Amino acid sequence: MIDRRRFLKGSGAVALSSLLPWARAQDEFVLTAAPATIDLGEGGGTNVWAFNDQVPGPTLRVRQGERVRARLRNRIGVETTIHWHGIRIDNAMDGVPDVTQSPVPTDGEFLYDFLAPDAGTYWYHSHRFSHEQVGRGLYGLLVVEEPEPYPVDRELALVVDDWRLDESGAIVESFGNLRDVSHAGRLGNWFTVNGMSRPDIAVTTGERLRLRLANTANARIITLRFAGIEPWVIALDGQPCTPFTLDDGRVTLAPGQRTDLVTDIHLAPGARADIDYVDERGVLTVAALVAEGFAASTASREPPPPLPANPLDTRIDLDTARREALVMRGGAMGDMNSATYQGREVPIRELVTRHGMAWSMNGVAGMPESPLFTVERGRTVALDMVNDTRWPHAMHLHGHHFRVVGYNGEPLPDSPWRDTTLMQAFDRSRIAFVADNPGKWLIHCHMLEHAAGGMMTWFEVR
Ligand code: C2O
Ligand code: CU
Repeated sequence: MIDRRRFLKGSGAVALSSLLPWARAQDEFVLTAAPATIDLGEGGGTNVWAFNDQVPGPTLRVRQGERVRARLRNRIGVETTIHWHGIRIDNAMDGVPDVTQSPVPTDGEFLYDFLAPDAGTYWYHSHRFSHEQVGRGLYGLLVVEEPEPYPVDRELALVVDDWRLDESGAIVESFGNLRDVSHAGRLGNWFTVNGMSRPDIAVTTGERLRLRLANTANARIITLRFAGIEPWVIALDGQPCTPFTLDDGRVTLAPGQRTDLVTDIHLAPGARADIDYVDERGVLTVAALVAEGFAASTASREPPPPLPANPLDTRIDLDTARREALVMRGGAMGDMNSATYQGREVPIRELVTRHGMAWSMNGVAGMPESPLFTVERGRTVALDMVNDTRWPHAMHLHGHHFRVVGYNGEPLPDSPWRDTTLMQAFDRSRIAFVADNPGKWLIHCHMLEHAAGGMMTWFEVR
């Protein structure tokens, strides 16, 4: 799947500054979505769609509780929107075309204006034909800062993506093809970290870093292995967790997920610490930390303190919860014979060939007319998600964070808060959350070809 030969050709990438450019709002951010040519380390330039000519787009930084005003200008030649992934946002600003807003036409604009209630690492991305638009580069980080600076010397973002490029370094224009839709999604053959191939990231011996990791790939589940550093996890999907260390130095991010790490740099000056992508087929180095110079002290430090809690409604009450189920079916080698599509029962062959649908949720392929459920504000929802397919899925909820309270029948006490959870083939996951945010909210697979191929539904909080 990953062409190692081509990947290796990209090695020896120049040690550029790997800090993502960032912007702080004065009055408003302006995000212009437009075609751009970017050097992804492949040799030539790659024609992408980008926010402000950068992939990732500019990292937007705001303080917790601050108002975010971001003006989208659309110059890509087709409709688009921006979704603010993981932000417990005002529904009207959620960026879902035809659900929370009309899509922004070519040469049109839209002012997103919302409060960011939770500190943490979030991201923004196109939510119109997102399997194509995110695949072409329309995404960036949104960092919401804690009220008090967290005690590290410095922070770095590591935004990991995989692209599907041809021999000339151009994006392969096969978006939404049936094979990707019905199998594991659009897996790429070219990794980038912060838009660069195998960047060397300069660090200082003795410093303590906060690393903000995000998986912005369309479909690839990314396991990273850290050598030479021993990070703690301090947040998942933006939400603080009790700090813990990684098993085997590995962290797995499903598409859409983020993790905040803290690590002390004990490398000798000049030493490198590789960051490797690992899967059952082998290992690829995707970036390296390179130590230069000495900070004040290299003495070991105390474990990092927990981040302050965000104002989530954590009062999950399973006894009075509204119980709902979401059963996923279909995909290659699945047993789905038909599904409801646009109000009509359609046999599988027609679903696939005529409508590009290969998956269903509760028997419906694609966005249903009526919500999966409607729940009164403040009620706990316990949702049993059943993966009756041979494929993993990265299930994402808009407007809320949830806890996985059970997996394959086993209760999971005190699991972390998340906005996206990875489910393996045939697994079942019970999630729970307090439905405290009024509006119409999507539930979908964040493997974007799966979402486009039917794995998309919604619920309403009133
Ligand atoms: Cu990041 Cu509806 O998705
Ligand atoms: Cu999926």
